Amino acid sequence: MNKQKALIIIKPDGVQRGLIGKITTRFEQVGLKIIGLKFEWATEEKIIAHYPETDTWFKKVGERTLTNYAKKGLDAKKVFGTDDAIKIGKTVKKWLINYLQESPVFIMAVEGYECIEIVRKLSGNTIPVLANPGTIRGDFSHDSIDLANEQNRPLRNIIHASDTVEDGEKEVSLWFEKDELFDYERADEKIMFPS
Ligand code: PPS
Repeated sequence: MNKQKALIIIKPDGVQRGLIGKITTRFEQVGLKIIGLKFEWATEEKIIAHYPETDTWFKKVGERTLTNYAKKGLDAKKVFGTDDAIKIGKTVKKWLINYLQESPVFIMAVEGYECIEIVRKLSGNTIPVLANPGTIRGDFSHDSIDLANEQNRPLRNIIHASDTVEDGEKEVSLWFEKDELFDYERADEKIMFPS
């Protein structure tokens, strides 16, 4: 039975609004094991490494943005000056670098069976207006892509959460040194994973 890891970052809007405790509780109470925790002022280098510096990532972010604009009948060219997905992705990344340095961020590594699926379920849609009530983004934020982009900023969506098993592994080892991660047994693990 493979346990997975995920990285959660409580972004500056979550920190500034005093939501650290409420958000941490949601991951803790569902049974995920916190294996690392820290509060730090993220460096530009760290953020650049966190959101992949690849055309594949820029394109994915740009295409998602274009799809969202098309659904709403909006013209991305008016806001971004281009409808080239890669260029749009690069602009969004620049915005993310500034946003994540507005204040310290609260960083958490969690572990558990089907951890990624659980983290995605608790976090809700990346776009707050589309996130269901009961999810972290659905309960604590209501930003929309077009509003954010009009103001030349990324979505203020409270948290970042790893999206895939591979991203979980990669992101946890980017933000945490080995000796900052802890191995111990949660009480409920004795039932779920009898030795
Ligand atoms: S991906 O491909 O899954 O990584 O992409 P996605 O999660 O959709 O986006 C990556 C981060 O960029 C933010 N984002 C945007 N902000 C503002 N405007 C636009 N158009 C936009 N597109 C993407 C989004 O909030 C993601 O940040 P995280 O930290 O992952 O939530």
